[in-house]
Amino acid sequence: MKITIIGTGYVGLVSGAGFAEFGHTVTCVDKDKKKIELVEKGSLPIYEPGLEEIVIRNKSSGRLNFSVNLADSVPNSDVIFIAVGTPASRRGDGYADLTYVFEAAKELAHFLNGYTLVTIKSTVPVGTARQVARIIRETNPLAEFDVASNPEFLREGEAVFDFLNPDRVVVGAETEKARNLLAALYRPLESKGVPIIFTGIETAELTKYASNAFLATKISFINEIANLCEEVGADVIDVAKGMGLDHRIGSKFLQPGPGYGGSCFPKDTKALLRIAQENGVACRIVEAVVEVNAAQRARMVRKIRQALGGSEEGKSIAILGLTFKPDTDDMREAPSLTIIPALIEHGAEVKAHDPEGINEAKRLLPQEVKFFKDKYEACRDADVVVLITDWNEYKNLDLSKLKSLMKTPIFVDLRNVFSPDVMSSAGFNYFSVGRRPIINFKTNL
Ligand code: UDX
Repeated sequence: MKITIIGTGYVGLVSGAGFAEFGHTVTCVDKDKKKIELVEKGSLPIYEPGLEEIVIRNKSSGRLNFSVNLADSVPNSDVIFIAVGTPASRRGDGYADLTYVFEAAKELAHFLNGYTLVTIKSTVPVGTARQVARIIRETNPLAEFDVASNPEFLREGEAVFDFLNPDRVVVGAETEKARNLLAALYRPLESKGVPIIFTGIETAELTKYASNAFLATKISFINEIANLCEEVGADVIDVAKGMGLDHRIGSKFLQPGPGYGGSCFPKDTKALLRIAQENGVACRIVEAVVEVNAAQRARMVRKIRQALGGSEEGKSIAILGLTFKPDTDDMREAPSLTIIPALIEHGAEVKAHDPEGINEAKRLLPQEVKFFKDKYEACRDADVVVLITDWNEYKNLDLSKLKSLMKTPIFVDLRNVFSPDVMSSAGFNYFSVGRRPIINFKTNL
């Protein structure tokens, strides 16, 4: 089948390469000429494990092409995916900004030629697909088309794996023709046993928001339980294990930490609240999820202060990990972006390391932050080391080397990467999330 993907960002590029991997002929279109030129040369705009390999393979087999012109591929396409960005609106009111989606709809409408299925992959509020249909009809009244909704559930850092091995595919399509086309498109997955769920258009749109809001709920829930564990002397890791082994609950997304970040959960939870409000429906659980997430970041700052004996003023704080999660260079809504400025505001000196995120972090963090390429150098003479992102390379830190470099061996582990026993025998004062702190020595202010 012939496919056009509009938008060569994160979702567009992964989906384009993935569909080509299934054997379809794909053209990825983006207005950004520079981006297309770079991708043509094999230089990808995002860091995503495994992506480069499938882009290069499918490009050289001729199944994956890039263009800046919709006219090059839209007239010959069976299916067009809109995969442009839907950032949070600049008004800060929780709305998703749909400008790019509507622009894409208007532009593609001019080039439709014969029956074509226009499918929305971008995360959009309920009702957007129908608005897109209206725009296309108004722009080109003679066009023969259907619209469909096919939300993505790709995790950053594992997007290629998720695309090729999803738990399910959700398709909102309302005509036989549309359903048949999407079924054919996903046949390679269906034959592997992946459930393809056909629904109405609004249902598919809402399924995406409901899924992300539920996952965010699990995280905020376990973060609150972690805070309770700290007060009553329980261990949240064991609590989460005890809960998660119940199949009705499941063990995933029960890791406490500094709160969720990234390009999806913060934006999608707020957008869901906005949709609920507009429709006069209370969504109090998701409201609380968003509040708890903000409070968790503030609590992490207090935890660091407590580890330092009550004040971060004049202290040297080494930060390990800046991105919102490991295996990505994405800094969007990363907890480090609220924790670090709060520490600096209270007079701390901050030295930071991250395997992939430094370039982006330099743009977003206060200029006082000093960045280091070597993690141990960032920790030299530090009063405390704070691990914010659980990159693999931090999991096997040489603890005796670390201790010998630091001014005082205090470690705040916001991802519970280390075992308290190991940190205790290594001579650290060790603070984690939802577990008893280990105090080996008294901290003097
Ligand atoms: C998410 C969804 O998982 C994906 O299906 C969706 O379509 C896009 O949003 P992503 O944002 O890439 O993917 O990251 P994910 O791995 O889900 O983690 C999101 C955030 O939650 C991260 O900040 C992570 O650190 C945090 N998290 C996750 C926790 O704090 N605890 C957990 O147990 C799991």
